[in-house]
Amino acid sequence: MKKIIALALSLLMLTATLAGCGSSGTTLADVKKAGTLTIATSPDFPPFESLGENNAVEGIEIEILNTICERFGVTLTINQMDFDSVIPGINAGKFDLGVSGISVTEERKKNVLFTDPYCLAAQAIVVTAGSPIASKADLTGKTVSVQTGTTAEDFCMKEGYDVKGFAANSDAEAALVTGKVDAWVIDDLTAAEMVKAYNEENGEGSLVILSEAMTTEPYAFALTLGSDDLAAEINKIINEMVSDGSIAAIFEKYDAPYTAPHN
Ligand code: ARG
Repeated sequence: MKKIIALALSLLMLTATLAGCGSSGTTLADVKKAGTLTIATSPDFPPFESLGENNAVEGIEIEILNTICERFGVTLTINQMDFDSVIPGINAGKFDLGVSGISVTEERKKNVLFTDPYCLAAQAIVVTAGSPIASKADLTGKTVSVQTGTTAEDFCMKEGYDVKGFAANSDAEAALVTGKVDAWVIDDLTAAEMVKAYNEENGEGSLVILSEAMTTEPYAFALTLGSDDLAAEINKIINEMVSDGSIAAIFEKYDAPYTAPHN
């Protein structure tokens, strides 16, 4: 009898453990029940997400998310934080979705689940007017600013540059402008947007983007591991928006060149 009870108990525990594993992620039913999709974002990354009037978060990714939320029949709840807190927050299950121009990497796949990508981007080099740096080759031995926790940081570390990391993108830009570093490495479309804004205020050509795409990086949204159901539902919408041209139209609205992913 004791043996049977022990066996029954261990079976019960095994079932509980297995169920526990499966329930670590978020499902579409969870989101619908909550009535809202909760995202984590670092809104210092125009044209993908930035602070507009009244400090409201706006940009390409917010527009994509608005469509997703509309389809799910839920509202969008936005949590703002530094970029290097987004992936850890998703990994810990604190938010449903990481939305931050996040590049898909093998390393990150160990900690979060990615949706299908919706575009391709690349790292770019930004320098000040008259800089002797004209290409990637000239960065050897130079000091470079990046945003902490980004693929720009990874890339520059691997290349062996003298890397200075900043929590906010605007501080990485300021480091270049004030001469604390020789170059600033950042994703191409955000470089274009931030350099345009800077040059409008400080004179055309004050900052220069070198036309050398150094990487190819697919952008996707990140979910807590185990959220396969929610990821599949989001993927249906993303893939539809990629193929029917609605993502391209959103990029056009923001004057950003669009490169479709190879899904
Ligand atoms: N694409 C780069 C990465 O995944 C940079 C993203 C920075 N995003 C932001 N919202 N500041 O690391």
